[in-house]
Amino acid sequence: MAEADDPFERRHLDDPYPFYAYLRTQPSDLIEIPERGVFVAARHDVARAVLRDHTTYRSGLGVQWIPVDQAGIRATFIENDPPVHTRVRRAVQKWCTPRAMADMVDVVDGIVEEIFDGLVATGGGEVMSTLARRVPLRVMSEWLGLDLPDAAATWADASFRLGAPEPPEASAEHFAGFLEWALGDGFASVRTNGFAEAILSGGDDERLHDDERFVALASIIIAGLDTTVHLIGNGVAALAANPDQLASLIDDPSGRAPAAVEEILRFDAPVRFFLRRTDDGRSVVVLFGSANRDERVFEAPHRFVIDRDTSAHLAFGSGIHLCLGAPLARIEGASVFRTLAERVCSIEVLRGAERTDSAAIRGFAALPVRLTAR
Ligand code: HEM
Repeated sequence: MAEADDPFERRHLDDPYPFYAYLRTQPSDLIEIPERGVFVAARHDVARAVLRDHTTYRSGLGVQWIPVDQAGIRATFIENDPPVHTRVRRAVQKWCTPRAMADMVDVVDGIVEEIFDGLVATGGGEVMSTLARRVPLRVMSEWLGLDLPDAAATWADASFRLGAPEPPEASAEHFAGFLEWALGDGFASVRTNGFAEAILSGGDDERLHDDERFVALASIIIAGLDTTVHLIGNGVAALAANPDQLASLIDDPSGRAPAAVEEILRFDAPVRFFLRRTDDGRSVVVLFGSANRDERVFEAPHRFVIDRDTSAHLAFGSGIHLCLGAPLARIEGASVFRTLAERVCSIEVLRGAERTDSAAIRGFAALPVRLTAR
């Protein structure tokens, strides 16, 4: 392949979809990108098959750009294969079922209402800082039982960038801020009887070993922030660009918000990729955003339509590593987009909107909007 044929090039980041569409026309299932030393899974059937064959396509060798043996740190859930993965996931599963997380609905709604009060009163603003970063930060603090400082959103962004090709130099420095906080006051001040305290005590039946507990909590914090941040930002942008779909959501905010969240995840998957590695040395990059726009599975995939069948989307992955926090992300998304539709009749994106240049995450760095109250 020519040098231009590289999905991680800066010029493809703002709008990766034309290049993804080109990749899906290639005859091979796994497409080689020689200059990166990797293969990519771009079609839906291939991406799903790779994710579900966890024996051939392993996570334990590393799902980030840098393999686990060079990174020096192993993310507890996402970078283990069975049987270790089965054990660590069981250690936290009971706190993460949709039923266990249903207790969070009222908490999330309270946080979202309060944030929207300010946002609607000012007629909008820069929604990444006023809404998208604030909701997950406050929700995760409540759910875990620890106070995440505002800087946590920057730490999560840095952590994802460190998992992608050519991370900016500042990322390592930002991520060091997280470790300093966690090893200092951060984890030391977890609240009694909270989920964070349970993880640091080993989780259910103390299944987490002593040397896994710190990274397990860190993994959940990092995974739960930047992802949901961009679900919210991408959703605001998609609804602004598709006023007919906003109108449809306004017709029935409670009824249609959960479906709108799934379509936002399909249309603009926040996580661009994770890798799998094989015992014979191949690295496979699974492109979630490409699978979600596969015309073989989704009719008119480039159209944003909130009442379409999205059940096959891969934004939360598939198989044994299916996102642990998906129930919480869905509660947060449904609350945000229901409240938005109850309080706002139009969204206008203003000058200054800018996509993030993170090669790991698809979202916005800044998204100034004007909101008209209903
Ligand atoms: C819209 C928001 C989110 C998106 C798009 C997302 C995306 C993903 C994806 C694609 C995976 C699969 C990784 C793989 O197969 O290698 C995953 C796994 C994971 N996610 Fe999420 N995530 C979101 C929210 C959350 C939240 C809120 C949490 C925590 C509260 C969380 C915690 C995790 C963990 C711990 C894993 C690893 C699970 C395992 O390996 O068994 N995520 N997520």
